[in-house]
Amino acid sequence: MSSKVLVLNGPNLGRLDIRDSKLYGSLDFNQLTTFITDAATALNLDADVRQSDSESQIIAWLHEAADAKIPVIINPAAFTHYSYAIRDAAELLKSPLIEVHLSNPLAREEFRHTSVISGIADGTIAGFGPHSYTLALQALRQILDK
Ligand code: DQA
Repeated sequence: MSSKVLVLNGPNLGRLDIRDSKLYGSLDFNQLTTFITDAATALNLDADVRQSDSESQIIAWLHEAADAKIPVIINPAAFTHYSYAIRDAAELLKSPLIEVHLSNPLAREEFRHTSVISGIADGTIAGFGPHSYTLALQALRQILDK
């Protein structure tokens, strides 16, 4: 049986169709979702990909994952840089947590250099476009197989 993973995406990632493709790649969010679920299936993982612009919705999904002990891959988008509420919710997880970014925030504006999530994640993968998610799924597969 494949293991479930929640793949959570924060604000504005639902509008990849109109965001800068030089930073975020050329897939729209629906295409990214298919890309992630296909990559997960190949690793015997069952990815439930979700996106919200709302901090409270992302917190509710993290609570759901904490209660059900489901691993999480999260791209918190701009919340990465300042949401202590998402960090506190993510800290409740009893399962692996991997932070991903399409772009490399460290190569961008100063305000993107801080992640309040990284310190509680098992690891962070950034800068590889949609493949950041593939690499995160591979890392999760390894953690689960250990
Ligand atoms: C992002 C990077 C963040 O700085 C930005 O606010 C995003 C997307 C990324 O995937 O590269 O919305 O998380």
